[in-house]
Amino acid sequence: MKINILAAVVTATPVLGLGEWSSPGPYDARGPCPMLNTLANHGALPRDGKDISRNVTMNALADVLNFERDLSSFLFDFAITTNPKPNATTFSLNDLANHNVLEHDASLSRPDAHFGNTIWFNQTVFDETKSYWTDETVTFEMAAAAMLARQKSSNLTNPEFSLSELGSAFSVGESVAYVVVIGDKQTRTANRTWLEFWFEHERLPTHLGWRRPELPFTSDDLSGGMELLGNITRQTPSA
Ligand code: HEM
Ligand SMILES: *[C@@H]1O[C@H](CO)[C@@H](O)[C@H](O)[C@H]1NC(C)=O
Ligand SMILES: *[C@@H]1O[C@H](CO)[C@@H](O)[C@H](O)[C@H]1NC(C)=O
Ligand SMILES: *[C@@H]1O[C@H](CO)[C@@H](O)[C@H](O)[C@H]1NC(C)=O
Ligand SMILES: *[C@@H]1O[C@H](CO)[C@@H](O)[C@H](O)[C@H]1NC(C)=O
Ligand SMILES: *[C@@H]1O[C@H](CO)[C@@H](O)[C@H](O)[C@H]1NC(C)=O
Ligand SMILES: *[C@@H]1O[C@H](CO)[C@@H](O)[C@H](O)[C@H]1NC(C)=O
Repeated sequence: MKINILAAVVTATPVLGLGEWSSPGPYDARGPCPMLNTLANHGALPRDGKDISRNVTMNALADVLNFERDLSSFLFDFAITTNPKPNATTFSLNDLANHNVLEHDASLSRPDAHFGNTIWFNQTVFDETKSYWTDETVTFEMAAAAMLARQKSSNLTNPEFSLSELGSAFSVGESVAYVVVIGDKQTRTANRTWLEFWFEHERLPTHLGWRRPELPFTSDDLSGGMELLGNITRQTPSA
């Protein structure tokens, strides 16, 4: 009985900063990052997606995803480079879509800028990505294969295809991020059902059992994950 009550309390405990989910309204800004969009949809970032400060970024990523503040601050420094205003101290989610600043070709769930809007989820593109998630448990090997396949498709179909060194590094970082943030940083695996739900709805899959990671996610976790996924990429026969 005691155990049941405890289980109920644990299940009901809301994630700090994670408000009710709602889809963006017509005047809300969104961008090419499925996670920042998700945080805005839950009200952990401003729901309008606009004028997001360093502090607000650090608090949202800490409260909802247990990101170490130094890492969030480091990511924020990249984010403000996308704001075209000089000496900006904030960014809006749509700024992130400015092509070839951070936004790059061969995304996992968005078409290349040459083909269309990089802000909104695109099912055709995502279907290609998820066809490489060949098991209920998604691994770094599958994430690497999906990333390489998207790069190959874009290169073959987009006459303007480009991927800078920064774009390439971001691609690796993004693939690491979805596995370890929706999944687990120690096993480096993620539940495919949770991943698909999150990408397709930009909503955290709490109803499927996703919880805020217990261990903080650090800069070392990100760089270590990127080194490993980068190594796997080099060993993956090109798709
Ligand atoms: C301040 C923090 C962050 C910034 C500035 C940021 C920025 C971006 C940008 C600019 C893109 C677009 C890249 C592209 O062209 O595909 C992107 C994509 C992505 N981001 Fe974030 N991001 C942040 C945090 C996160 C976090 C915490 C996660 C955790 C899961 C995440 C996961 C992803 C994924 C998986 C993609 C790839 C989407 C796709 O390829 O379709 N991001 N992010
Ligand atoms: C940033 O957040 C911290 C902790 O939440 C708070 O103490 C500080 O006053 C905030 N700073 C600004 C500039 O909002
Ligand atoms: C931006 O900052 C630089 C260096 O602090 C300063 O010289 C410049 O006037 C600022 N520009 C604007 C538009 O505020
Ligand atoms: C989605 O991407 C595909 C492939 O690039 C493209 O043909 C299609 O028009 C896009 N759909 C939308 C709704 O943008
Ligand atoms: C696209 O593919 C060609 C042929 O394999 C290759 O030489 C080129 O470097 C690729 N482009 C990019 C940006 O990776
Ligand atoms: C993934 O999550 C779904 C839905 O919550 C669950 O039914 C399934 O057993 C999980 N799969 C694995 C491999 O843990
Ligand atoms: C990645 O590959 C390099 C070169 O083979 C190796 O020294 C390094 O230990 C590898 N790192 C990881 C995390 O696997």
